[in-house]
Amino acid sequence: MSELNNIALKIIGNGKGILAADESTGTMTKRLESVKVDSTSQNRLLFRKTLFSSESMKDCIGGVILYDETIKQSDSSGKKIPELISDSGALPGIKVDTGAKILANSKEEKITEGLDGLRERLKEYYKLGARFAKWRGVYIISKKFPSKLSIYANAHALARYAALVQESGMVPIIEPEVLMDGDHSSEDCFQKTSEVIKKCYEQLELHKIELKGTILKPNMILPGSSSSEKIDTLKTAEMTIQCLKESVPSEVPGIAFLSGGQTERDATKNLNQINLNNKTNFTMTFSYGRALQQSALKFWSKDIKNIKETQKVFNHRAKMCSLASKGEWNEKVDKI
Ligand code: 13P
Repeated sequence: MSELNNIALKIIGNGKGILAADESTGTMTKRLESVKVDSTSQNRLLFRKTLFSSESMKDCIGGVILYDETIKQSDSSGKKIPELISDSGALPGIKVDTGAKILANSKEEKITEGLDGLRERLKEYYKLGARFAKWRGVYIISKKFPSKLSIYANAHALARYAALVQESGMVPIIEPEVLMDGDHSSEDCFQKTSEVIKKCYEQLELHKIELKGTILKPNMILPGSSSSEKIDTLKTAEMTIQCLKESVPSEVPGIAFLSGGQTERDATKNLNQINLNNKTNFTMTFSYGRALQQSALKFWSKDIKNIKETQKVFNHRAKMCSLASKGEWNEKVDKI
């Protein structure tokens, strides 16, 4: 089992974090269409391999989460994508849930699916080079939500997934995401996120998960995106740390935040402040999708053959996130 702990530490230790490049084809199509690029399999691969072969992969990225399509692709020289990633020293990971569907008896909420046949799929992903996996539970937030039902059902699914992932020799990323949408306060986000995370660990314990071989991927504590409340970085960091200190067992080696719709700069600045204030034993780093890729995608879309310059944009963002994971970021260095 210490093998799983080693994998977890390799992914999130030494100022490294995770590049979440596991957008489903539907989500990736929306992202590409938003910058007027056709969402062909070739274009999705071209953008992704541009990132995976960037210089910053070596020092800033410890793991890359892939989607089923990408883990089975190769670059133009025939090199398999998981191999391209491991050549840089990072570990390939795989999103294994099959998406969030309407939760029966609480139809405004969702339950994440993908447990059927998961044991067999994990064996295949391991053979393809994956050493960690991701499953995302999503929770809406309002006065009556998330309901007890959605908190329980998603925690149960996350625990069953985590058990199968550890059985197959990989590290499960536990991602309970309390969405930013809504006009709720930061205090509401704190309360609901704490309840959600505590239930996850209750279920993980019941399912006998070795916590040292897991990584938690939570949201930061923030007011809703349409709330009139404004909180500064320091308050975000304090509330986020307090929530995690009270809800996460100390055996968990590390926490890799999702960006969840924050701008690249906010996600970096908040992570930096979290690390400046962090007195827990948890490593606190990033597992960003949008907050690592947004500028690079925008730049790349102007000329999809301009690999080198696109990589410069990505390298800068990855470097900023890596500095933030050590509490060494500042406004001045974040200029290109
Ligand atoms: P964002 O950082 O864009 O929220 O994506 C992270 C992720 O993997 C969501 O599941």
